[in-house]
Amino acid sequence: MATHFKIGAAIEPDSIDSPADAALLGAQFSSLTAENKMKPGEIGVAEGQYNFGPADKIVAFAQAHGIAVRGHTLVWYFSSGDWSEAPAWFFAGDPKDPHYRDVVAARLARYVTDVVTHFRGKVYAWDVVNETISDDPHQVYREDSPWYRALGKDYIAIALRAARAADPSAKLYINEYSTDDPVKRAKLLSVIRDLRGQGVPIDGVGHQMHISIDWPPMSHIKQAFDDVAALGLENQVTELDVSFYSDPGECWHNPHACLPDLGNPVPDDVMRAQAERYGAVFDLFEHEPSIKAVTLWGYSDKHTWLTSTPVPRTNLPLLFDANLKPKAALWTIVDSSWRP
Ligand code: GLA
Repeated sequence: MATHFKIGAAIEPDSIDSPADAALLGAQFSSLTAENKMKPGEIGVAEGQYNFGPADKIVAFAQAHGIAVRGHTLVWYFSSGDWSEAPAWFFAGDPKDPHYRDVVAARLARYVTDVVTHFRGKVYAWDVVNETISDDPHQVYREDSPWYRALGKDYIAIALRAARAADPSAKLYINEYSTDDPVKRAKLLSVIRDLRGQGVPIDGVGHQMHISIDWPPMSHIKQAFDDVAALGLENQVTELDVSFYSDPGECWHNPHACLPDLGNPVPDDVMRAQAERYGAVFDLFEHEPSIKAVTLWGYSDKHTWLTSTPVPRTNLPLLFDANLKPKAALWTIVDSSWRP
């Protein structure tokens, strides 16, 4: 495998309960991310009260195996039903109160400070903010975020500054999806320029890269890395998986617009296309020195968000199958000397 970037996987604490899974993770990966357990909805129980236990378990495993940990994520807007990654306690109070803004800003700074301090020296890079850019053509920032509603764009700078102060040696990333889309990327780059103009610390861009076997085009992916590198920033691929389905965007709002389930067994030509796609993107990564880590959003096809989201259906997007056996996709990315 390539040597100039770390290879990571997102895991849950129970991923390491099985000796076979733990052995695979310990042997094959050089970086780990908590799939969910470092998110604010998990850690931020109440103001000044934290649930670090599940994330600590992952960090302890990584440390015992000499594996680096990237932190994901300190600030996110997302909520759905009972699930909120922007817990209500951050925003308690009356927005009309003249002190409201300062109170929310102080809660945010305290949260980031306490979490980064807890993991100081153990987490080498943080996705400080996740998904701050809007998909709405009339907006740059995601204005429906409770963070934006309370603090405007300043929440991003507050979080980055607090993270740098709490652990000056951790790399600070802004993490985003669809960075391959030129319109979205232009917004992201303008936000980064604005932050740097204010002297806000930022080291790199995390590209989620939830891609599919035939979307987006390779040239668009490459352009995203090149544009970030041209600003003198690092790139990391933070959530790579290769879905079978290239759904229209509408599928995220209307399940009927999603492509139909391929069923099981998945046709051979689809598995072959996936293997080729993995080969192609890793070939690109190897030629991009600005890429410091490539993290897969999982490790085995037995556990992936893509079998439930955006709709329940067969999907096998990772490099090891449900029995932890290497897939054809894996053999396209390892050095030929490792091939059977
Ligand atoms: C986004 C988030 C990740 C994860 C995935 C879906 O990409 O950044 O943390 O929740 O969605 O699982």
